[in-house]
Amino acid sequence: MRTVTMEKKFIIAVDGYSSCGKSTFAKAIARELNYFYIDSGAMYRAVTLYCMRKGYIGKGFLNMNDILADIRDIHISFIYNPDILEFETYLNSENVEEEIRGIEVSAHVSRISQIEEVRAKMVELQRQIGVLKGIVMDGRDIGTVVFPDADIKIFMTASVDIRAKRRFDELRSKNIDVEFEEIQSNIIARDIADENRDISPLRRAEDAIVLDNSRMSVPEQMEWIREIIDKKRNESRT
Ligand code: DC
Repeated sequence: MRTVTMEKKFIIAVDGYSSCGKSTFAKAIARELNYFYIDSGAMYRAVTLYCMRKGYIGKGFLNMNDILADIRDIHISFIYNPDILEFETYLNSENVEEEIRGIEVSAHVSRISQIEEVRAKMVELQRQIGVLKGIVMDGRDIGTVVFPDADIKIFMTASVDIRAKRRFDELRSKNIDVEFEEIQSNIIARDIADENRDISPLRRAEDAIVLDNSRMSVPEQMEWIREIIDKKRNESRT
């Protein structure tokens, strides 16, 4: 008689500092396991873009009342693009995947992600997506707040200079004109903001495994995670 075993589908949380290569790593895991990849940072970026367009946030100002009044009108979703085999971020039905990656959104997103009501809305959406199982989600609070029971939790880190260099190369390859120093100071400022905000600050979950990828290639990181996934699979079979 033939027996069919269903492989348990995991929730994999990838948290860590900005520009650590979390999304590259999380996407590669999702591709290999045939899981969904969800970029939670994209949600905060999309809310930021909405607020920028409305003039609710800019250099030196943030209009909290307007943001809170509009919060129900901000709808974020992910739609699969079969041409690139990836989900793209939509803000009120508009594809904003490219626009949310710009330096201006990056400069304001920390302040938007500190707003309690924004976080509550994003966490709710992230948990709804989590019902799917078989997902890899990256962010700052996925293993601590969004999915404290995630099957595998990774906490990623890398040196500031290496992160700045990677982000600089990425933006330059897209012909976005930026200064290295601007990127570097943006990363330092975001680290401070992420670690020190009152609600859901960036913390390593106690049961998260640390991955410092300063000197690791993506294939090396994949080799590292394969062992962890295999071990988890064996545990879940017994
Ligand atoms: O990962 P990223 O750089 O695209 O994230 C953008 C911002 O959103 C970053 O400043 C931190 C914030 N963020 C967060 O507060 N919680 C998450 N789960 C993901 C991102």
